[in-house]
Amino acid sequence: MTPTGRPLTLSEMADELEEEKMHEMERIISKSTFGHLMDGHVTYDTAPALKEKHPGKYFLMGADPRLPPMPEKPTLVDYFRHRFASTAHLLQSANHALKTGQPEKVIMACLVHDIAVVSFIRCDHGYWGAQMIEPYVSEEVSWAVRMHQALRFFPDDDVGYGYPDLYKSLFGPDYQPEPYILEDYKRARAHKWYMTSRLICVNDIYAFDPNTKVNLDDFVDIIGRNFRQPKEGLGLDSSPSAHMWRSILWPTRFL
Ligand SMILES: [Fe+2]
Ligand SMILES: [Fe+2]
Repeated sequence: MTPTGRPLTLSEMADELEEEKMHEMERIISKSTFGHLMDGHVTYDTAPALKEKHPGKYFLMGADPRLPPMPEKPTLVDYFRHRFASTAHLLQSANHALKTGQPEKVIMACLVHDIAVVSFIRCDHGYWGAQMIEPYVSEEVSWAVRMHQALRFFPDDDVGYGYPDLYKSLFGPDYQPEPYILEDYKRARAHKWYMTSRLICVNDIYAFDPNTKVNLDDFVDIIGRNFRQPKEGLGLDSSPSAHMWRSILWPTRFL
């Protein structure tokens, strides 16, 4: 009940539960401004307000105890196992590429093409995903991941790829990609690596079967040959995208 006697809404109850859990934590866990934007609020958690709510406690500056622990030097495989919310689609698309005899660079690209969605963010997932992997894979693989964002909206009859029915049901029959997507599509269409990115889209449509189970272990060797694992741990190195991996490793670190 609220102080006025009104029963709590479901979201208020969830907030209360979260609040209770935070009180049990040793450190103060804060939410980034982006988390609030996603909830439809232009606001942010101020340090004084949070300190007042949690007297005597310090802010969390490392691993979030609510999340699965990660090894001291995490690898891409550790992120697959402990940070990616779902890996079925990635594994199925890579498996389709493998079973149909496509080159290893295509299998690798399929394996990571939607990692931004499952670990981080949906909006512009191809661009985010490409930046995450750029320092660790070949230029062709990260280019293909970036461009699948645009290519997936445009058919290519030569490889039997039509506009996916799924998109009609997801975005409505009238959805038109924005001008920046159209421009990137045109650029990608004329590029020497066009087919590598197009094959991500082709394998993508075979990768939404809830009954097909694919094991990550089958791809560990391919990852080993195509992903330069930093010796310090992925995210703990000094590459231009290490901070992105660190943010997934420690999403609630105060700063
Ligand atoms: Fe995608
Ligand atoms: Fe996909």
